[in-house]
Amino acid sequence: MRTSICLSTGAALGCALLLGHTASRAQVPQSFAPRYVTAASVRDVMAAIIDPAADEVWEAVSFTDGVDGTTSTAPRTDEDWKRVRRGALALIEGANLLLMPGRRVAQPGEGSAAPGDELHPDEIAVLIRKDPRAWSNMTDALRRAADEALRAIDARDSDRLFDVGERIEIACESCHTRFWYPNQRLPPGYGAPGGQ
Ligand code: HEC
Repeated sequence: MRTSICLSTGAALGCALLLGHTASRAQVPQSFAPRYVTAASVRDVMAAIIDPAADEVWEAVSFTDGVDGTTSTAPRTDEDWKRVRRGALALIEGANLLLMPGRRVAQPGEGSAAPGDELHPDEIAVLIRKDPRAWSNMTDALRRAADEALRAIDARDSDRLFDVGERIEIACESCHTRFWYPNQRLPPGYGAPGGQ
């Protein structure tokens, strides 16, 4: 593969010229160790990036049943599509952020918001350390669903975008029930056939 040959020779400049249209990708020579800080916790990334980004995507298309039948909303203007596209991109890259080594689950001193139902951040960290593959697979599921949303957006296909919204929600919930509230006590009837 041309890209890997270029990286292994470390001749970034010459390769950037050779690679033509791929040259605009960031080329990182192997001898250079990039520095980054993980200031935000997983909880912060959820609240600041992933949750608002998911809202942009979910709220872009909706169907509401009323007395006059079903009304729907969907992105119409270029600006509407741009906004929801930003949401999908933030979800994709937000999923990547969850994989960065050194990111803590919550800030020092923060505890569980609902002890008994939601694990303490230290317990979540233990679960992630025990099964990093499951954590990685779940971020992957979110990234892939968000990537599908991006493709629906680029095709300006609001029906497909609506359907993908459910896949995104499943990706959120699968990870939350595994790593955040595995001991959640469900209200009676919840999850039962015919229940909610
Ligand atoms: C790979 C796992 C994973 C995925 C995928 C994931 N989350 Fe989370 N999320 C967590 C964990 C772990 C916590 C609990 C962190 C804590 O507060 O200790 C959390 C917490 C949250 C919180 C609470 C933040 C706060 O301020 O207390 C929100 C909101 C949230 N997630 C939304 C989402 C949404 C929306 C999605 C999908 C679009 C999503 N999450 C996908 C792991 C995940």
